[in-house]
Amino acid sequence: MADKSATSDELLCEGRLSGPIVLSVETSCDETAVAALDGRRLLSSCISSQTLIHQEFGGVVPEVASRNHLSKIEPLVNQALDKANLQVKQIGCVAATRGPGLLTSLLVGYSFGKGLAIGLGKPFIGVNHIEAHLLSPFFGTEFGPERSIGLVVSGGHTLLVLVDGVGQYKVLGGTVDDAAGEAFDKVAKLLGLPYPGGPQIDALAPRGNPHRYDLPRPMVGSRDFNFSFSGIKTAVRYLLPKLEGDYVADVAASFQEAVVDILVRKTMAAAAELRVDLITASGGVSCNSRLRQRMGEAAERSGKRLLLAEPALTTDNAAMIGYVAVQRSREITGSDLALDADPNLALA
Ligand code: KG4
Ligand code: ZN
Repeated sequence: MADKSATSDELLCEGRLSGPIVLSVETSCDETAVAALDGRRLLSSCISSQTLIHQEFGGVVPEVASRNHLSKIEPLVNQALDKANLQVKQIGCVAATRGPGLLTSLLVGYSFGKGLAIGLGKPFIGVNHIEAHLLSPFFGTEFGPERSIGLVVSGGHTLLVLVDGVGQYKVLGGTVDDAAGEAFDKVAKLLGLPYPGGPQIDALAPRGNPHRYDLPRPMVGSRDFNFSFSGIKTAVRYLLPKLEGDYVADVAASFQEAVVDILVRKTMAAAAELRVDLITASGGVSCNSRLRQRMGEAAERSGKRLLLAEPALTTDNAAMIGYVAVQRSREITGSDLALDADPNLALA
């Protein structure tokens, strides 16, 4: 289990306090994460990754994940407070991921967060994990969330959302089968690469020829904003037994190119059709170097602004949970203590 501090220097700021301290907790899947924020500034962000533990199973085992969250959550809260030079009594508000995610994982951080808020007599904010990914590109900007087309691409979700400000979201489309990250992980597994496969494919692809294998681009021409990735994975499955020699990098590059092609084309189509000038991308897959490059090129060609989530904020982290809580705390009068964790929480 690797403990790491997941912040970029630009976001991490240890200056004077300028607002109530928000302590945020994220345990929706297999990363235990805690962050401390002061207004818009990030004071600390700590992540305890379970990747190595789940690697031997080729995916996340819910029971194992929740037990690890249980043992990690309290030390991580202390670590986040220490790094931010804070005492527990300075916390002004507690936030935790309410959903969606694995229920047994969510319950650990959500219950811990509630308990801490009750003990301190402070407000509690339950945060939607997808909303946190969606707004993460705005973290650290001078302006807040504004009208934009948001592409959220992670292991569990692939969504295109029209954002009109905090809490103003219209889902334009989503995946009809696998999420983009799930497709990366499954194809990596077919290629004999370790879990999670996205970063592995990203690292291998530059050594391969992205045009060597002509893989399908399902639904790329459909008139809606939905996605489908399972057909690409199936095409790879049927292709592999026919190949000989050193083909892994070429398959990785060709697969990545197909997925990136679909994501970029659909996102640009949404921005053009709805006449939106700002495009954002977030979630674990938005860390992908080819996706970042192609999105940059496409935005420049069409004269759109592009905001990509900071790499440290792409995969699951608590800083993005705290950021949503800060955005919402301005309008919050009560507390979310009466709300339960919800593994299927929709982006309202
Ligand atoms: O956002 P995230 O940490 O968790 C979810 O909310 O699902 O996303 C994890 C997903 C995994 O499927 C992982 O393979 C993928 O993001 N991922 C990547 C890259 N880094 C992480 N996929 C492609 N390229 C990457 N560099
Ligand atoms: Zn996530």
